[in-house]
Amino acid sequence: VLLRPYNTFGIAARSRYFAGFSNADELRELLSAPQFRDLPRMILGGGSNVLFTKDFDGVILKNGIKGIDVVGEDDDYVYVKAGAGESWHGFVMENIKHNRGGLENLSLIPGNVGASPMQNIGAYGVEIKDTFHSLEALHLEEKEVVSFTKEDCRFGYRESVFKHKYKGQFAILSVTYKLSKHPQFNTSYGAIEAELNVMGVKDLSIQAISQAVINIRSSKLPDPAKIGNAGSFFKNPTVTAGDYERIKTAYPNVVAYPVEGDQFKLAAGWLIEQCGWKGYREGDAGVHAKQALVLVNYGEAKGGEIYDLSQKVLDSVEEKFGVLLEREVNII
Ligand code: FAD
Ligand code: EPU
Repeated sequence: VLLRPYNTFGIAARSRYFAGFSNADELRELLSAPQFRDLPRMILGGGSNVLFTKDFDGVILKNGIKGIDVVGEDDDYVYVKAGAGESWHGFVMENIKHNRGGLENLSLIPGNVGASPMQNIGAYGVEIKDTFHSLEALHLEEKEVVSFTKEDCRFGYRESVFKHKYKGQFAILSVTYKLSKHPQFNTSYGAIEAELNVMGVKDLSIQAISQAVINIRSSKLPDPAKIGNAGSFFKNPTVTAGDYERIKTAYPNVVAYPVEGDQFKLAAGWLIEQCGWKGYREGDAGVHAKQALVLVNYGEAKGGEIYDLSQKVLDSVEEKFGVLLEREVNII
């Protein structure tokens, strides 16, 4: 099957087989099917955080589990469970409509609910771990459903247990979020305050924050429907205070902020821009002109070409700053 419609990078890789499922039993059946049993398999959501560098010689299982349900409530919180195949942004909007707070800063992130815990998606001062309650996942070998609490998931910056210890072992079926009836507004990210001012917002609300985030994102991130991409290609690197001082002495404008453990997180976009990559293009592979952390496919780039470009970017940042970037996108 041609995978181009199933990955936001728009890479024209192929898979040997491709099948969809809309509940756990259908997935169990596919996993037991004789023609698929011994092949590599991959659960796919919206395809917005993957780069296919070659054809996939196995079966791609596309998650189509739907449904959004309130499963509990108390004085302060509403517990909302969503099928893994629901659109993330649709889920965020549905909760905002019902005035359930906590996800508004995560508006307009592409992809599906089921992938949200994979890398603990985050933006504008919030990560899903702040409102995550639990999830259910099917073990691909045992074919049993296992529940995970927040602690079980071991969330970190763009990290979870599903990217490490349990990599490739589970299909996430549903995720439950604990959302607030009395929203606490998070406008700590400078760009949000600035955008709220531009919008002329007087009374802060989750709707206003969501709209501010949508405006900011639309102004700098490429729309995958127009230019292929998977968002930030690298993580923002964390360095020691010593390394930060060394870089700051040589480059006083370095963009960084302190994080726990006496360390600093650097803006990878700034590092990449300083190496001269912003707006760079080689064939159909490029570095986005408005956000150097985003690699783009202008049309016919091969996954391998995007990957090779990412290696050049990584090498140049290491050479200039002595900082090793780590890819954020899942390389397949
Ligand atoms: P996919 O790309 O389909 O899958 C990603 C990985 O998770 C794959 O390894 C896949 O095998 C696995 N997976 C997917 N679903 C399941 C499941 N149900 N069970 C088990 N494994 C599964 N991310 C952020 O964190 N913050 C941002 O601000 C952000 N901005 C973005 C902006 C743009 C324009 C784009 C294109 C991407 C952005 N991303 C961002 C990245 C991406 O949107 C998120 O990582 C998103 O959660 C991926 O969801 P998906 O359904 O598309 O996952
Ligand atoms: N910057 C530059 N040049 C660039 C890009 C950025 O100098 O080309 C500097 C600017 O000074 C800017 C700072 O870097 O102030 C931070 O940039 P931005 O606010 O765009 O955020 P980011 O650190 O580049 C991260 C996430 C995004 C998330 C935004 C908003 C990572 C890897 N990326 O990007 O997530 O949307 O913050 O919170 O942490 C994604 O994961 O796909 C993604 C888009």
